[in-house]
Amino acid sequence: MNERLLAGPVSDPTALLTERHNRRWARIDSRVAPLPSLADDTGLVISHGKDATAAGRIAEYRFGENTYEALWGPLLRHVLQVRVTGQDPAAALDEVLAELLGAPATPGDGPGAEPGNDQAAVLTWPSLDTICVAPLVRHGFAPLTSLVHRWLEGLPEAVSEASVRFALPSDLEWLTGQAEQLHLFESRLGVLPRRPALRALLAEELASALTDEHSFVLVSVADGAPVGFLHGQFPHGAWIERQVTTEPTGYLSRLFVVPEARGRSVGRALIAAAHEALRARGARSVLLHHSLHNPLAAPLWARVGYRPVLTTWTRRPGAAAERGPGTHIGEDGKE
Ligand SMILES: CC(C)(COP(=O)(O)OP(=O)(O)OC[C@H]1O[C@@H](n2cnc3c(N)ncnc32)[C@H](O)[C@@H]1OP(=O)(O)O)[C@@H](O)C(=O)NCCC(=O)NCCS
Repeated sequence: MNERLLAGPVSDPTALLTERHNRRWARIDSRVAPLPSLADDTGLVISHGKDATAAGRIAEYRFGENTYEALWGPLLRHVLQVRVTGQDPAAALDEVLAELLGAPATPGDGPGAEPGNDQAAVLTWPSLDTICVAPLVRHGFAPLTSLVHRWLEGLPEAVSEASVRFALPSDLEWLTGQAEQLHLFESRLGVLPRRPALRALLAEELASALTDEHSFVLVSVADGAPVGFLHGQFPHGAWIERQVTTEPTGYLSRLFVVPEARGRSVGRALIAAAHEALRARGARSVLLHHSLHNPLAAPLWARVGYRPVLTTWTRRPGAAAERGPGTHIGEDGKE
């Protein structure tokens, strides 16, 4: 136990703990951004083990069913904010999870455990911190989404013959339909929920993506008809960019190729064109989320140079099957 954490010259013990936690994370993966200190409020749990210290709290976020945020996860999210340090961080994490979620650590206890409720406990953690995986599994968490990253250095990538152009306002209806198909695909994988306002919210989002200076939408065309699209964001200081230390960083929000055109490098061509668009706007690197349950996504992104940075873990035992658990959510509750 470190006495300075209990009393002594440091007035805010969670600030010191967070500093050490961040130093540990930086050693594990220099691409992961440091976290802020935890609020020292009544919900804060501190566990002092023999060789490690951990602190954590749960922040709750509620979203209305017809909101944009509701598309990406449960309406009630218990977001775990945890800091660990010391020789045995897995033991410290284990203890703090037990306290936060309620012992004994079996699926079915604690936040997110009420059957049929549209809720989940969510924790985002560096993917390379494998020592902390076992406590999460023991406490009933499943890895749901991966935030993956690659640098954008080097020569322009070879683009296949597939023809790619920026989307036009006349593409909006087609884009909305394909974005809906992508969402429903992720719903069938149990990753995203289905919401009544899905189509309307997607139409609104894509309409603004076509005019917003921070977004871009690329369309791949074959025989005069669109066969795939990629929606991305240029670096602009968005929440997701602050999860990493690699700025300026772009973000790829969606990639979809119609089933009949798959396996013919349409996806690769869209990705290469997106990388070029990002390079042209000064991006040094690029991020995206993919579902760990999507068998098409992980091989594709690894093949084109991405590697995991942050994994979002979700604990949602007993929830209704059609209501998917939360995805790629940060400590501030945002997607
Ligand atoms: C993922 C998707 C965009 C790939 O598009 P595509 O045009 O078929 O991909 P490409 O032909 O350019 O292939 C690129 C890579 O994807 C992977 N891939 C393609 N088809 C695959 C298949 N049937 N099974 C597994 N991996 C496959 C391979 O790694 C391939 O690289 P390789 O050709 O060097 O082996 C497309 O399958 C799709 O729209 N899927 C549904 C939506 C989705 O999963 N989107 C991604 C969300 S992150």
